[in-house]
Amino acid sequence: MRVLITGATGLIGQEIVKLCHEKGIAVNYLTTSKSKIKKAENYQGFYWNPKTQDIDASCFGAVDAIIHLAGATVSKRWTPAYKEEIISSRINGTRLLINTLKGEPHSIKQVVSASAIGVYPDSLIHYYDETFNDFDDSFLSDVVQKWEHAVDGFSQVCITVSKVRIGLVLSNKGGALQEMVKPIKFGLGAAFGSGKQWQSWVHINDLARIFLYVLENKLSGIYNGVATNPVTNLELTKTIAKALGKPLFLPNIPKFFMKLALGDMHTLLFDSQRVSSKKIEDKGFQYEAHHLQSALEDLLG
Ligand SMILES: NC(=O)c1ccc[n+]([C@@H]2O[C@H](COP(=O)([O-])OP(=O)(O)OC[C@H]3O[C@@H](n4cnc5c(N)ncnc54)[C@H](OP(=O)(O)O)[C@@H]3O)[C@@H](O)[C@H]2O)c1
Repeated sequence: MRVLITGATGLIGQEIVKLCHEKGIAVNYLTTSKSKIKKAENYQGFYWNPKTQDIDASCFGAVDAIIHLAGATVSKRWTPAYKEEIISSRINGTRLLINTLKGEPHSIKQVVSASAIGVYPDSLIHYYDETFNDFDDSFLSDVVQKWEHAVDGFSQVCITVSKVRIGLVLSNKGGALQEMVKPIKFGLGAAFGSGKQWQSWVHINDLARIFLYVLENKLSGIYNGVATNPVTNLELTKTIAKALGKPLFLPNIPKFFMKLALGDMHTLLFDSQRVSSKKIEDKGFQYEAHHLQSALEDLLG
């Protein structure tokens, strides 16, 4: 089997590539950086640029499935111009893949695309599953709705569409966890706002396993990529501090302060989404990291 991965060089992509290689799956990947192109038999890089709609179409050669992750990071200040880039990098990249495949013979049967739980409205009480569709018009929800809609276009080229709505990814190589660890290590950790907001986390290893499970079992449709036990922001902060052996004594950080510091992007820290993993479990997927404490001991220990 050979998969084409976009965003393969990112946090989640690198973990998926590692798992593919462990399973004997060869990887082609698309990158916007020519310097990241490598040409090993099981890891072949190809250049693309969604902005200019440039793509090396030989990337599709002998490929059975696409894992589509690429998009400009949301962890950068959301200026109006950057908001546009967050959306356009995802939409233009998706369209470029679909348009290139149109009218060309290809062997691709399935696409598994990244999506995000940011599509679900901020709520302390809802428990979201994949059937929920009463979305609001917050920026992140809008991004995800447009992105998922664009990904549905793969069906025009006879490719089965699957989407994984990714939660808060916990990794020891970067991402949100490393940003949370820094202040706690210096004794400056604190929860955000009331600390009651739900954080639907997932261990990066389980997330990579979900992508390949969806692929190998030919599952179509939407699956939440979150662990079985979401926690509140306060519990997450306390559990990280415990895993690091550090005390937490500061009061919670008020919302207005983080809004001043981060602008609209502060919603990433304050929005609450309690998200269910039941659908993928009902399909037989077995998590390795069910509970936050053991996940953190594994990543931070
Ligand atoms: N990490 C999380 O907690 C989380 C949560 C929910 C959803 N997601 C989504 O999952 C996907 C992968 O996440 P990640 O954490 O692995 O992201 P990441 O580390 O930022 O990597 C994303 C990759 O996308 C490519 N990329 C960046 N800007 C691009 C642009 N303007 N146009 C085309 N490609 C671009 C880059 O690859 P090249 O440099 O090789 O081109 C980069 O390595 C993202 O779409 C993200 O929004 C992540």
